[in-house]
Amino acid sequence: MSKTLFIKTWGCQMNVYDSARMADVLAPLGYRPVDRPDDADMVILNTCHIREKASEKVFSELGRLRALKARKAAGGGRMVLAVAGCVGQAEGAEIMARAPYVDLVFGPQTFHRLPELVTRADGHPGGVLDIEFPAESKFDFLPEEQTGQGLSAFLAVQEGCDKFCTFCVVPYTRGAEFSRPAGPILAEARRLIHSGAREITLLGQNVNAWHGEAPAGGGRHWGLGRLVRAVAELDGLLRLRYTTSHPGDMDDDLMSAHGEVPGLMPFVHLPVQSGSDGILVAMNRRHTVDDYRRRVDRLRHFRADLALSSDFIVGFPGESDADFAATLGLVEQVGYAQAYSFKYSPRPGTPAAELDRQVPETVRDERLTALQALLNRQQLAFNRAAVGSVMPVLFDRPGRRPGQMLGRSPFMQAVHVAGDDALSGRLAEVRILAGHPNSLSGCLVGRDGAPVVPEDAPRAPEVIA
Ligand code: SAH
Ligand code: SF4
Ligand code: F3S
Repeated sequence: MSKTLFIKTWGCQMNVYDSARMADVLAPLGYRPVDRPDDADMVILNTCHIREKASEKVFSELGRLRALKARKAAGGGRMVLAVAGCVGQAEGAEIMARAPYVDLVFGPQTFHRLPELVTRADGHPGGVLDIEFPAESKFDFLPEEQTGQGLSAFLAVQEGCDKFCTFCVVPYTRGAEFSRPAGPILAEARRLIHSGAREITLLGQNVNAWHGEAPAGGGRHWGLGRLVRAVAELDGLLRLRYTTSHPGDMDDDLMSAHGEVPGLMPFVHLPVQSGSDGILVAMNRRHTVDDYRRRVDRLRHFRADLALSSDFIVGFPGESDADFAATLGLVEQVGYAQAYSFKYSPRPGTPAAELDRQVPETVRDERLTALQALLNRQQLAFNRAAVGSVMPVLFDRPGRRPGQMLGRSPFMQAVHVAGDDALSGRLAEVRILAGHPNSLSGCLVGRDGAPVVPEDAPRAPEVIA
């Protein structure tokens, strides 16, 4: 019998990937994804624990779902309500206590057990909790993907983290670092391409720490640079990306791939968190500001037009005005195409939450505003610098206005042009005409560099002198 499944996803791209895989696990049980929770037979909240605000959202969402569940029960039906992901892992017992109407709580490493958990929840009015870190790897139990992810697909190659940055919950919620062997990764990449993917993003909490068994086995291991070269060779794939990298794991083989593998996009997300060595030590980042700058220079040595993105935390305990100024200085030096910045959020169970010298909220706010102003200026400058150039754009969806199509530049910029659905899934050359804060606009150009005007595009108004 067909049943409906609604999954709501917060957090990082790994959670987006996990949600797709949860749907795969539940498909053989007859669950089919729907895009509203209202009358769903099962609702999964795939949650994020990274900052306080992210976690709070779960309880407010649960409050709303409780009413939907009650309504369904009143009509004689049943809604299975589940909390998955990193909040599930970190706060499983609290969730069961605070929200006893939740049927199931599990973490990122046990969702391959969903069929069994759903059956157990049937006979357990008190709810079922599974936040074990099992000895088995879920990747050995997940079924093949049931539905493609479309043109641009995620592929998890590495998971978990052994770095223990003092602010971060990930090592506790995702568990120890784990790399999948290259064979199954290449097989999954081929299946994704077969179901329509033209761009693949290799995912990991520390993706460049990936070191997996080579496809031929024999005890040989590859690093991410080798894997990137192998995936890029697969027939039908146009673009390859990887995220998120740790500066300490950026080796020469991976960096040189940016100069040698045409399909590997010239855009790297390389979080640095702070531009102060003192703060980097307190964060246990295990690299200096100079190490980071050298990695950036080396990447640009292999690929001169490589663009960078990063993550920053402002207001880490003990961060002085001088420390913060050093972060602004580093941003000025590197020049980012795009970046994420966050106010430090003390997380239960992490060492930094216990530190003295927490920075007052007002100071954190001011620093965030100043850093974001600088990053926004850099992003706009980067977008404007593209004006006049011609770049390949991979089109994947209609734009906001009718007669518009939206795609991505090699540097992940959103690019819109006049065009119709025939562009969807195609890589086309675009001349950039304008750079905006969060996007570019341009026009399609033919092989000869002349604009291509789609037949049904609105004509430009004639200029009346
Ligand atoms: N594995 C990645 C990042 C994972 S978390 C890395 O090593 O960089 C994504 C981002 O969230 C981090 O880069 C950091 O900038 C931010 N973040 C993590 N914990 C945080 C906290 N306690 N407060 C504020 N931001 C945090
Ligand atoms: Fe968190 Fe640090 Fe691991 Fe990144 S490297 S996931 S910030 S502990
Ligand atoms: Fe959030 Fe977990 Fe990802 S805490 S950022 S969903 S690894």
